[in-house]
Amino acid sequence: MASRLRLGVNIDHVATVRNARGGALPDPVRAAMMAEQAGADGITAHLREDRRHIRDADVGAIMAAITIPLNFEMAATPEMQAIALSHRPHAACIVPERREERTTEGGLEVAANANWMGDYIAPLREAGCRVSLFIAADPAQIAAAARIGAPVIELHTGAYCDFHAEGDFTARDAELARLITGAKQAADLGLEVHMGHGLSYDNVAPIAAIPEVVELNIGHFLIGEAVFVGLPTAIAQMRAQMDAARG
Ligand code: PXP
Repeated sequence: MASRLRLGVNIDHVATVRNARGGALPDPVRAAMMAEQAGADGITAHLREDRRHIRDADVGAIMAAITIPLNFEMAATPEMQAIALSHRPHAACIVPERREERTTEGGLEVAANANWMGDYIAPLREAGCRVSLFIAADPAQIAAAARIGAPVIELHTGAYCDFHAEGDFTARDAELARLITGAKQAADLGLEVHMGHGLSYDNVAPIAAIPEVVELNIGHFLIGEAVFVGLPTAIAQMRAQMDAARG
């Protein structure tokens, strides 16, 4: 049996609901603590440039409240680098960001910006953050991530999930094959492989079954499901599905 998969719970959308009314509730810090109690192996939070969900003060508050690692998602900007260096989260996941997108739509362009990206991540690595690059399962991007010394990549599962939801199973299976091949390529290059984006009970099993994957980061579905069943139950059910797929 492959080793147990880690589950990182992304609590951004608790903050989205909070921000809808401009007050303090629901509190993403409470969600992070509850996720830890429910068996999450890590908490993921994305401080976007426009602060549409997580805000600056949330980062330190979450880190102070949890004992599991924080995976801090950030755009490759000087501002975010300074914030990450001031908090030194366990992990810093670099993601592409455009203001007009609803969510993180594509992967990072590492191959064409390798020198710049290598310089950008160096201080984060020196500060002890485990740097992860959020990329598509593209052989050139994976090779570039290894070349610039990133220890971790997170492969974008969004297209796989979208094709699944649309019922385009031919395209979904092609995308799954790309993720499987990409995970193997990355592991052979010595990279730790994570995956995430768009995962739900419906589509998680084939991803969880990929033996090279060590961590899944899941947010939107779990927070939505928590409205109906509560966060601990949603996390426990996801955990059970991941473990079943792994076994
Ligand atoms: N991983 C990364 C790098 C992300 O940017 C996101 C979305 O913030 C996720 C995982 C979680 O995606 P979702 O909210 O669709 O589960």
